[in-house]
This record gives sequence, C-alpha cells and structure tokens, in this order.
Amino acid sequence: MGGGAEVSLSGEQERALIDAAYAAARGAYAPYSDYPVGAALLFDDGAVVTGCNVENASYGLSLCAETVAVAKAFEAGRRGGLQAVAVVGLKADAEPITPCGRCRQVLNEVAALGDTDPLVLCVSKDDVRRVALSALLPHAFGPAHLG
Ligand code: THU
Repeated sequence: MGGGAEVSLSGEQERALIDAAYAAARGAYAPYSDYPVGAALLFDDGAVVTGCNVENASYGLSLCAETVAVAKAFEAGRRGGLQAVAVVGLKADAEPITPCGRCRQVLNEVAALGDTDPLVLCVSKDDVRRVALSALLPHAFGPAHLG
C-alpha cells in the first residue's frame, strides 16, 4: 500500500496531459461558480481519461472534475495503473489549482488499487506545480484498511 515509485513525465507528456485537461474543462457545466475545471488521468498503457466539473442547482451536489474522471475510468474497467493527473481551471490565476480534499481521496482509490503514487500536475495560468498524490494526501485511508 502506498509503495508506488515516483513518477516523472517528459515535457511532451506533461503538455499533452495538460492540454487534455483544458479540453475537458471547456465542457464544464459551472454556471454557479463560473469556475470551469478539467482533469486528465494518465494510465500506464498511455490511455487518458478526462472529466470536467458538473455543478447542480442544489450547490452541494456538484461534482468535481477529478471525481468525474475517476468515475469514467472505473466505468471503463480501470482498477489501477494511474500514473499522473493534470488539474486545470479556466479561471485559475497565479495560484496552481490543487485537487480538493474529497478528490484526493477519490483519486487515492484508483491509485491504491494499482499501488501507484500518481504525479499530480497542479496548473496555474503560467506555471505547473508537480506533487505526488501521497504528498497531497499523506497516511491515506484506502482499500487495504478493509482487508
Ligand atoms: N472543483 C473541481 O472540479 N475540482 C477541484 O479539485 C476543486 C474544485 C470545482 C467544484 C466547483 O464546481 C468549482 O470548482 C468551484 O469550487
């Protein structure tokens, strides 16, 4: 559990993953926050699964981009192999956008199933912060706790 090796991507791989996240963000439904977010998940076979935030008139029911992407990945049969995640916001400014607490936990599920420690690319207007999921969510609760 949590023993995944450190992941690093080439500049080209990073760019492609970030571009995929931006493309997803353009599909966001975010009329309440006006803060469209996109996420792109890179798997070890090269597949990329994306998601956007989907808000709701009952604000608390809104879905984050990362959660939508993880749900799509599970639906496609993925149970591990998560190498990297890019998170972007169309309105993000100087501060890189980082996954919210719930999304860190949701990402941890697919990471833990494949024993990887995905690299999370937190993107700002003109910078990228690279941080391991294990650093964003140390001592995570995961499937191994349930035996
Ligand atoms: N949001 C995400 O999609 N992912 C995050 O990690 C942070 C926040 C969305 C939720 C809401 O629709 C909007 O950004 C403003 O909080």
